[in-house]
Amino acid sequence: MTGTPLVEADRLSRNFPMRTGLFGRHRDVWAVRDVSLAVQKGETVGVVGESGCGKSTLGRMVLGLESPSAGAIRFEGRDLSSVAGAERRRLARRMQMVFQDPFGSLDPRRSVGAQIADGLRVHRIVAAGEVDAEVARLIDVVGLQKNAAGRRPHEFSGGQRQRIAVARALATRPDFIVADEPVSALDVSIQAQVVNLLADLRRDLGLTMLFIAHDLHVVRHLSTRAVVMYLGRIVEEGPSEKVFGAPAHPYTRALLAATPSISARKVDEEAVLAGELPSPANPPSGCAFRTRCPLASDECAAAVPDLAPYESGWKVRCIKSGPSQRRGDL
Ligand SMILES: Nc1ncnc2c1ncn2[C@@H]1O[C@H](COP(=O)(O)OP(=O)(O)OP(=O)(O)O)[C@@H](O)[C@H]1O
Ligand SMILES: [Mg+2]
Repeated sequence: MTGTPLVEADRLSRNFPMRTGLFGRHRDVWAVRDVSLAVQKGETVGVVGESGCGKSTLGRMVLGLESPSAGAIRFEGRDLSSVAGAERRRLARRMQMVFQDPFGSLDPRRSVGAQIADGLRVHRIVAAGEVDAEVARLIDVVGLQKNAAGRRPHEFSGGQRQRIAVARALATRPDFIVADEPVSALDVSIQAQVVNLLADLRRDLGLTMLFIAHDLHVVRHLSTRAVVMYLGRIVEEGPSEKVFGAPAHPYTRALLAATPSISARKVDEEAVLAGELPSPANPPSGCAFRTRCPLASDECAAAVPDLAPYESGWKVRCIKSGPSQRRGDL
């Protein structure tokens, strides 16, 4: 994988001030800390981790919807913070988001067709006389019935609403989509249909995706590369089949152990996720995972481990999981 990535996060951090305790002391919550990530054209990168680990904040920053406290986002090599005006709008057209809650992101009072048409008009994707035909085409692409355009969002089921949200995102003909938990609010039986739709669209339209989910099955199915986050930092990153097939970080192993049908073949007994998730406002010193880690020792408290190469294209942030300390050699 060479060349300029389509999207690149370069040492992104984002903190939020938070009042804690009886006397309301201010503390910073580091939602995202020093995250670097390159997404190549055509790739789907999956981001996983427990609630509050910074997935949505990362996704929003990558799309320019939230500004980083430090670091930069580059789209085709251009720093988003240095792009403004008409050029910024041109970039905005190329980057779209699909959210977890399609009801929250769709206007209940307007017809589905009108909402899909917004992006077509704002970015002048087609001539005014062709908007209706293009809306009909998008409705067909996402597998909804022809008469959907004239109806309102509440007339649709959760899965259908998510198809509407996808059609709306596709209207501007984006190259890059951030899907933030797009199926977590849906019934399990419907989730696979929407995941398959995204997989088909990615293939047919050559989309590049950042796919955020806490369900490892979904990420494994859809993504070529996986990023595992814990309390704002990447702890493991690599090809999906490797990260989920033979995870190197104890946290990834614990996440997998907590996801029965992936790990049913072989439950890793040392890997059960013990203890509570620490407060993001007060993370443990050194390796943030050490308070729940079966491998932790005193040296893990000393410093935050580097995200170090493990194998080609695969990195791990753990002093106990370096290339010389593969599983089985521990
Ligand atoms: N606008 C905000 N103001 C204050 N704190 C915030 C804000 N947005 C996020 N945070 C905090 O930053 C941390 C990361 O939040 P984020 O929503 O990015 O996590 P997440 O991984 O998407 O979680 P979930 O799986 O629940 O969606 C959390 O501790 C959260 O409380
Ligand atoms: Mg989130």
